Amino acid sequence: MDYAEVNLDDVEGVATIDTAGMLGALERFPQQVREAIEIGRAPAELPDAADLRAVVVLGMGGSGISGDVVGSLAADSLGVPMSTVKGYRLPGFVDENTLVFAVSYSGNTEETLGCVEEALGRGATVVAVTSGGRLAEIAGERDLPLFQVPGGLQPRAALGYLFVPVLSALERIGLVHGLLEELGAACEMLDERVQEYGVVTPLDDNPAKRLARDLVGFLPVIYGSEGPLAVAALRWKAQFNENSKVPAFYNWFPELNHNETVGWNHLEDIGSRCHLIVLREQDERPRVARRIEITLDLIKDDVGHITHVFARGSSRVERLLDLVCFGDHTSVFLALALGQDPTPVTRIEEFKRRLAEQS
Ligand code: F6R
Repeated sequence: MDYAEVNLDDVEGVATIDTAGMLGALERFPQQVREAIEIGRAPAELPDAADLRAVVVLGMGGSGISGDVVGSLAADSLGVPMSTVKGYRLPGFVDENTLVFAVSYSGNTEETLGCVEEALGRGATVVAVTSGGRLAEIAGERDLPLFQVPGGLQPRAALGYLFVPVLSALERIGLVHGLLEELGAACEMLDERVQEYGVVTPLDDNPAKRLARDLVGFLPVIYGSEGPLAVAALRWKAQFNENSKVPAFYNWFPELNHNETVGWNHLEDIGSRCHLIVLREQDERPRVARRIEITLDLIKDDVGHITHVFARGSSRVERLLDLVCFGDHTSVFLALALGQDPTPVTRIEEFKRRLAEQS
């Protein structure tokens, strides 16, 4: 396929590639967040915050990032440590004073299910967030608090359903404050953003389409700064992988200044085909702004393109969700520009099928 042939402004033509309607799912994101706020209010027996010494979120891929989102938003105010476990290994500190959220959209992810069994064995309180599968069954059998979310989406398109109940539960027990209010206000901003980044907005007025067009033929490398912007950078990377089916990498300031800054010194042919996207905030820490300035000055001749994307919004929740919305649309438009249907993740399914054969 000649990439230049795909006109991102041809709404009907684009729909013939986006056969499962990923663009529609992105457009419904604000509605999904509103619904998820309601789901988060469902009756659930949650532990007393006074008894808790740690919070852990279990989850992989599009589900696991829900823990990163909540952790990055809550980090500055949370009085207990919070971590996200993406794998088979449950940390040694998990005990009866730990609140564990098991997040799996399908409810059938083996790493998450394995950690759930171990966490229950250690007496932790386990809260399930899922659309069904084995996780919903375990919640029923063991009488666990369950936030059941609607099914039928790709897990990565269900981010609102997956992170909001975790945030909501933490706020209900008084471990975090004010984030749900910020989230409610963010929905109005998201209503505007999904229009601005949506398929009906022509390329000249649509920053997501423009960036997608500039990414054709390049490998996206996304940099954020520690906290929510690093989580946004991870989301962009994963969405480029799963929607656009391209390799993509991410890193964050200040850590990357201690290693990756040097790593652009060789393999010029690869560097020149990388498009560096730097996620930023208008009021970023002055030392971070200075780091970005120096870093880009050092590596500017080693990469093909550099784009700065400034988060918009008046709260940390709005800024993170604005970046998620921008990145999600960019990854889908890149898929479409490459003639790829953004929805199927055939290799993930094939991988899980082959792994299950040998269990
Ligand atoms: C697919 C996706 C994947 C899944 C992951 C875990 O859209 O985003 O990264 O999220 O394979 O599966 P679930 O989310 O069902 O636990």
